[in-house]
Amino acid sequence: MAANTKRQPVRIPGRLIVGSAPEFNHDTLAFMLNARQWGDMAVMYYSVFPLYIANHPDVVHDILVTHNSAFYKSTQTKIALKPIVGNGLFTNDGDDWRQQRRLAQPSFHTKRISAYADTMVRYADELCRRLTPDQPVDIEREMAHLTMQIVAKTLFNYDGGANDQLSEAVRTVLRNVDIRFARLAQLPQWLPTPKNREFRQAIAYLDQFIQQMIEERRRSQEDNGDLLSMLIMAHDDETNMRMSDQQLRDEAITIYGAGHETTSGALTWAWYLLSQHPHVAAKLHEELDRVLGDRLPTYADLPNLPYTEMVIKETMRIYPPAWATSRQTIEDVTVGGYALKKNSVVMLNIYGMHRDARWFPNPDVFDPERFSPENEPHINKRAYIPFGAGPRICIGNSFAMMEARLLLATLARAWHFELAPDQVVAPVRQFTLRPRYGMRMVARARVRTPETV
Ligand code: HEM
Repeated sequence: MAANTKRQPVRIPGRLIVGSAPEFNHDTLAFMLNARQWGDMAVMYYSVFPLYIANHPDVVHDILVTHNSAFYKSTQTKIALKPIVGNGLFTNDGDDWRQQRRLAQPSFHTKRISAYADTMVRYADELCRRLTPDQPVDIEREMAHLTMQIVAKTLFNYDGGANDQLSEAVRTVLRNVDIRFARLAQLPQWLPTPKNREFRQAIAYLDQFIQQMIEERRRSQEDNGDLLSMLIMAHDDETNMRMSDQQLRDEAITIYGAGHETTSGALTWAWYLLSQHPHVAAKLHEELDRVLGDRLPTYADLPNLPYTEMVIKETMRIYPPAWATSRQTIEDVTVGGYALKKNSVVMLNIYGMHRDARWFPNPDVFDPERFSPENEPHINKRAYIPFGAGPRICIGNSFAMMEARLLLATLARAWHFELAPDQVVAPVRQFTLRPRYGMRMVARARVRTPETV
């Protein structure tokens, strides 16, 4: 694509006044798949507001990588998230964001996060022991519990269960995020509706909890091995700065939110796909039995579990937890040949690219072999971006990949899950991509009962 030829985005047909908003709201994922027929970059009207949709990997690459400094996070994202995560990494922009990212990056270094592998496996093993053969299990809920326990332990060294006040507060806040993203026009937060009251109480609880954690760490001046200790110790050589308590609070809530629902979503979809593709499940089990035998996985096993990784990658292609992201231009800029004026809002169609036959033949077929060592180098890297790309690529991507592989391996060693007979499955976009009707499955013991495993 010649970047200097000016191209016009095709306007997606819509109705007077409402534009394409009803179709977009009714089934956003179908809308994103259809949006591709209008070209590499299309423009829809959300009511009277133009919203660009970038469908082509090269256009997306220009936005996230080549011209990333011409874009900020969109105003909509900030309106929805700032009351919760403040100026955390996800919502921050410009020099402030750059400094925060420099400060936070070392905490996510592979050397540091590999120490969390045992924690991840321990919690997954606890779940293995709790399951009862041939009984139904709400797999979406169990995966959410598991990843929430793991983020609480790795972030705060906090051992609370999945049902305590902390997790309840996080769940309340995340529900609120979904609602905020679902509605464009927001009811003001100060209205004393029961939902708003519940939300404010949850935020107040989280603030107090995090403040207490920060004070404890500062008092003891110890490295507890958790992410919070690391963030407190972080020092920016360029500006000689450390994080303030407010920044620590914003970063902690950001990591809590970004760090668990995405990974639990990926795992939920992986269990579903495995239940529908017995030959893939058999190959996964063969790898786990061969490499692990009777023991639990460790960090050192990961390079020897390539198929486990292929299953996770292919799951995130078909069901990317981050189904889209958005940006807003801060100056006039040309991407992929399309001229965008300052303040244009663009959605990056991750879901659409991952299911585009041009980059993934038979795109709706679940085939982990696409990511085999022989095939993966031929994938268009710009078309597969479950963690985003460029300077704002997910800071937790190694953490997430390690966690997803270890949890899948620990659980699939001992159990396999069959879809409950009456379970209807369809993806729906909330803040992340979720199963619209939940995911009830039946736990079947593999090899031996969990007590003897
Ligand atoms: C499967 C799991 C995950 C997926 C699919 C995912 C996806 C993403 C994506 C697509 C972005 C970029 C958004 C954008 O460009 O607008 C992002 C950013 C981010 N993610 Fe993740 N993520 C996952 C897990 C995690 C984990 C485990 C953590 C932390 C422990 C985390 C923390 C963050 C943060 C802080 C950002 C903002 C980075 C910045 O803007 O500098 N994520 N994630």
